Amino acid sequence: MSYKVVVLASGTGSLFEALIQSQQDYEVVALITDNPDAGAIAIADSYGIKVEICELRSFSTRTEWNRALRALIAGYQPDLVVSAGFMKVVGEQVVNEFNEKLINIHPSLLPNFPGAHAVEDALNASVTSTGTTVHFIDAGVDTGPIIAQSEVEISPDDSIQSLHERIKTVERELIVEVVNSFARKSNQ
Ligand code: GRF
Repeated sequence: MSYKVVVLASGTGSLFEALIQSQQDYEVVALITDNPDAGAIAIADSYGIKVEICELRSFSTRTEWNRALRALIAGYQPDLVVSAGFMKVVGEQVVNEFNEKLINIHPSLLPNFPGAHAVEDALNASVTSTGTTVHFIDAGVDTGPIIAQSEVEISPDDSIQSLHERIKTVERELIVEVVNSFARKSNQ
């Protein structure tokens, strides 16, 4: 039985693609996005991976959106759900249903710099290093138990973009490592 992974992503999808390229002990079965313009969609299409679009604005309440999201994810019976740049906080319904199967990757060393502007916040704080964190998703924003972290040095001439690109290089390795280790444990 293969270890099934559903990815939630709404951006360019470079972490999503790294996960696809390292499939061996697990299988990426679907991309779920809330953004119909996400670069991740073309990536999914090029690998023949199923895409589900679940736009918040198509629902009259956030509760309804969460209900739909939960049903979409559940339809794939995933072993693991990876949020990699989903950029939306998922609600209690999703968290409660998938709790220990639901992980996120965030571009800072949590608990430092939670939220949507983690890279910019680290630059503005004049710290000398930041990094990335993989953690379980709980009801808070970037607050769940930490699974793994990697540090990234900040250089004095870094822009938000240059620093984020360097963080993403590390994130691609870290997320693959974490998903592989979850899958191997479960396949034992
Ligand atoms: C990553 O920095 C991730 O930590 C954050 O969103 C970014 C996703 O990058 N949550 P990409 O769209 O996979 O290139």
